[in-house]
Amino acid sequence: MTQGLERAAPAKVNLALHVTGRRADGYHLLESLVVFARHGDTLQVTGAQRDGFSVCGPFAAEVPRGQGNLVLRARDLLRRHFGALPPVALTLRKNLPVASGIGGGSSDAAATLSLLCAFWHLPADAGLLGRLAVSLGADVPMCLLARPLLARGIGETVEPLAHMPALPLLLVNPGQPLATPDVFAALGRRDNPPLPPFTGGSSAVEIARWLAATRNDLEAPALTLLPAISAVLEALRGEGALLARMSGSGATCFGIFESPERAQAAANAIASRHARWFVQATTTLSSTEATAHD
Ligand code: C5P
Repeated sequence: MTQGLERAAPAKVNLALHVTGRRADGYHLLESLVVFARHGDTLQVTGAQRDGFSVCGPFAAEVPRGQGNLVLRARDLLRRHFGALPPVALTLRKNLPVASGIGGGSSDAAATLSLLCAFWHLPADAGLLGRLAVSLGADVPMCLLARPLLARGIGETVEPLAHMPALPLLLVNPGQPLATPDVFAALGRRDNPPLPPFTGGSSAVEIARWLAATRNDLEAPALTLLPAISAVLEALRGEGALLARMSGSGATCFGIFESPERAQAAANAIASRHARWFVQATTTLSSTEATAHD
C-alpha cells in the first residue's frame, strides 16, 4: 500500500484579466496573467477500508460536502476513466475562503487529480490530465500547472511564463462570497482589448508598472454586485500597495508590495481594523521555482 501523500492547492491570483469575447455556449473568452501564492489549501490522501472525505481548517464550514464538491468530482472522474480503484480517505484543509476568486475549488480539484494519480500510480500524461481537468472547470488546467502563466480561450489554454519574479502579495476578502456566473452576467462589455505582450521584469515594482496598463474586466461588474470590494481596494491602496486589484470574479483583492515586510505590515494594519475580513500576506511562486505539484 502506498504511504499517505499530501499536495498543496495554492491560491490562484489573476494579476490581469481581460474579457475579449464570448463563445456560442455562453462561456467568455479571456486573456489572463496568472500567478500562484504560497498560501493555499492542502489535500491529503491515505488508503482506507472505504472512501472518506473530511474537511478541516478556517473555512471548513463553507465547503459543500456532497457530490458538488470538486475534490469528490475529481476523485470520481478518475474512477470513471480508469475503472475500479481502491478506496481512499481524503482530507482537505480549507485555508482559502470559498467562492472568492482565488481558485480554491479549482485548485483543490487540480491537487486531487495530481495527488490521486500519484497515489494510485495512474498512467496519466499531461494531455490526458489537462482534458480531465477542463471537464471539471475552466480554471482547473491552470491550477494543475501552478506556475506563472498566460491563460487564453476560456482560461483552459495555458502557457508558462518565463521572467516572473516572486511577488510580495497581500490577499484581502471582505467576507462575502460572489458567484462567478453572476459576475460574468453583469459584464457591460464583452469585447475588450487583449493583454499587451508581457515584457517580464525582475522586481515587484517593474511588474506593477507593467500591470498598470492592464485591467481586470470583471472588477466593475463585481463592484456593482458587492460594493464592499471598493473598501478592500481602498484599504490596500491606503497601506501603500504598488498596485491593488480584484482577482478573478472576486471578491478577493490583492495588493502587490515592494517587500514581504511591507505586505505583512499592511496585513497587520488592515486586519486590526476589519476583524471579519480574510487578510493574508504571502508571496507568489516565481517562474523558476518548483511548483506545488512537482
Ligand atoms: O468552468 P467553471 O465551472 O469554473 O465556470 C463557472 C461559470 O463561470 C460558468 O458556468 C460560466 O457562467 C462562467 N464562466 C464564463 N467564462 C469563463 C469561465 C467561467 O462565463 N471563461
